[in-house]
Amino acid sequence: MTPIRVGLLGIGTVGSGTFNVLQRNQTEITRRAGRGIEITMVADLDTARAKAVVGDLGLQDSVRVVADAREVIANPDIDIVVELIGGYGIARTLVLEAIAAGKHVVTANKALLAVHGTEIFAAARDQGVVVAFEAAVAGGIPIIKALREGLTANRIEWIAGIINGTTNFILSEMRAKGLDFGVVLKQAQALGYAEADPTFDIEGVDAAHKLTLMSAIAFGIPVQFDKAHIEGITQLAASDIAYAEHLGYRIKLLGITKQTGGLTNSPSGSEGIELRVHPTLVPAKRLIANVEGAMNAVMVQGDAVGSTLYYGKGAGSEPTASAVIADLVDITRLHTADPHHRVPHLAFQHDALSATPILAMDATVTAYYLRLQVTDEAGVLARIAGILAEHRISIDALLQRPNDGGTADNSAARTDVIILTHDTVEGEMNRAIAQMQALPTVLAPIVRIRKEELS
Ligand code: HSE
Repeated sequence: MTPIRVGLLGIGTVGSGTFNVLQRNQTEITRRAGRGIEITMVADLDTARAKAVVGDLGLQDSVRVVADAREVIANPDIDIVVELIGGYGIARTLVLEAIAAGKHVVTANKALLAVHGTEIFAAARDQGVVVAFEAAVAGGIPIIKALREGLTANRIEWIAGIINGTTNFILSEMRAKGLDFGVVLKQAQALGYAEADPTFDIEGVDAAHKLTLMSAIAFGIPVQFDKAHIEGITQLAASDIAYAEHLGYRIKLLGITKQTGGLTNSPSGSEGIELRVHPTLVPAKRLIANVEGAMNAVMVQGDAVGSTLYYGKGAGSEPTASAVIADLVDITRLHTADPHHRVPHLAFQHDALSATPILAMDATVTAYYLRLQVTDEAGVLARIAGILAEHRISIDALLQRPNDGGTADNSAARTDVIILTHDTVEGEMNRAIAQMQALPTVLAPIVRIRKEELS
């Protein structure tokens, strides 16, 4: 059988990894796919660099390099277009054009699908083609496959993932070396772990893109990135990491999506889906709390299977290529199958997606770490505990540590009061924090970090 023919749009790190792995493992891949998979065209604005990559692999005679992506899309010999450009702009136009031209699409572009997924999947369905995106979430970890197929018997209860390697690297360094965020960010940039413009990573946007996709697949809802609650790690202080550690917790940037209300004993009683990315205290004894450096990990809780954990490299040339090629093999196997017999893009049949709402943040339920800088005098703690009690917020643990900041200018001694709470509704916590913040004995903005037991 003739090989399936692939055109790459963009040949950066992932593109060259895809070439390398396809070439190195071509015998095994062909045995698995049932026919060969060959990249026969590459479009890249930097044709000189693209030609150099292709030439280094000795493929200059079999791979045509062009500057214009539309030449690839228009080529009737190309069966699958791999979009590795990134972003929401031209990538969206080209993906839609490729679909309209009847090409299957493989993409690593989480931003594109999290924002425009509904439009793109509908277009693909109309054309009877596949848009595959294993590489878009957690790089080399086959989490899309696991959620969409391996766990298909389950009602998914929640997902919690470390799905951004840059921020996990920074948090690991902050904890190990007791350094502040800004210092570690500079080191991460120097080492190439963080991009020159790391905004999407450190502000949690990249993680929210990935979480949005996992949430849609887990719960059978449309992709709704605009409803995600997103907080990054830029405000995190080394002292909170140290206090958390003292209390038996690590702080991780987690993407959490959870089905609540009706299905669990949610104190809020709200039925909906939580979709949130924020720094989170996790018990240090959990496996996921021990995922260090740039690694990714995703925990999935299913009602039948229980807790499962997927770990691996969330980025990089060959790990991401591993996911891209898995999609190429899937499409190759199903190329001639009736579109109705393929796995639906979002795991659920498109006419069976649910309208379960994404919950507003103040309706979500979680536990909290609070740090209050207060004057060290009688009655302060009692007043704080009283406010929490008024809001039916139960204290789980409490720690008090001197804060040296207040003694230098002869003002009253200050102390840090650190409180861990049990689960509560976020809206109630917001009201309690506002009330505590207004106390004259509370001397600095209250630090609040959410806490999840993940048990
Ligand atoms: N920048 C991402 C990370 C990888 O740091 O994990 C691509 O999404």
